[in-house]
Amino acid sequence: MSITIRQIGPCFAGEVDGLDMRQPLSREDAAAIHAGMDRYAVLVFRDQKIEDAQQLAFTRALGPIEQAIGTSLRAAADQRLPTTFADVSNLDKTNTPFARDDRRRLFAIGNRLWHSDSSFKATPAKYSLLHAISIPNKGGNTQFADMRAAYDALDEETKAEVQDMVCEHSQMFSRQLIGFFDFTDEERERFRPVRQCMVRTHPVTGRKSLYLSSHAGGIVGWPMPEARGYLRDLIEHATQREFVYTHQWRLGDLVMWDNRQTMHRARPFPADQPRDMRRTTLAGDGPTVAQAA
Ligand code: OGA
Ligand code: MN
Repeated sequence: MSITIRQIGPCFAGEVDGLDMRQPLSREDAAAIHAGMDRYAVLVFRDQKIEDAQQLAFTRALGPIEQAIGTSLRAAADQRLPTTFADVSNLDKTNTPFARDDRRRLFAIGNRLWHSDSSFKATPAKYSLLHAISIPNKGGNTQFADMRAAYDALDEETKAEVQDMVCEHSQMFSRQLIGFFDFTDEERERFRPVRQCMVRTHPVTGRKSLYLSSHAGGIVGWPMPEARGYLRDLIEHATQREFVYTHQWRLGDLVMWDNRQTMHRARPFPADQPRDMRRTTLAGDGPTVAQAA
């Protein structure tokens, strides 16, 4: 049986029926998922009772994966999951929620700002696939914003202004926005800014989108305060309600999004409740602008 997709968001986001991730992915379904991602940019798969190995196999059937190495404040010895997974939970190695003031928790609160995954890496992520293993009893939604619709809605003068713009992205910039400044020298080195173009063109559909992220903290050639104000205005424009789909998680949901065409953010939830979310990530094709490695 092949899959069907129906739109669930305001101008994007679809829900997929007819797929069981415990079974190998057929070529036909893989092609339909890629085509669905090109169109909807976010796909929701309900009720996937899968193990990590099945999530990984499903992800790999869609393309090469990005490893989660050096992107959080968890030390190697402190990882709950292998580097094939980004641990998006609030849990330590013993599956206990981090204390409210735990540095690893505070850093992860950066996910509550609008962002695109790995925009702080020279080759940023293509798709992210997030699977819900346990969810809090309130809050903890994830919101998605359509950066193609946001681009289309710009006036012509702004489209021309952003066309060749290049930004500097770093996890330190997003954390500065939430008042988290406490980085070690090693982390400052690891989180050195990278450059990304502001306007991306989708390789299949040819649609343009705004490549925004709270990791963007500067515009090349612009004074910093002016750049910060401009980026803030653009994010405000791009995340208006008409461009946003809010996902209310159920256990077993797997949500896949295209980081090249969308931003997302987590919404708050009680600190003492486990929220176990595991992310696999498909690697992007390459850097968005030429730069030193
Ligand atoms: C992510 C992320 C949001 C959430 O997995 O990259 O930002 O709601 N998740 O956990
Ligand atoms: Mn994210």
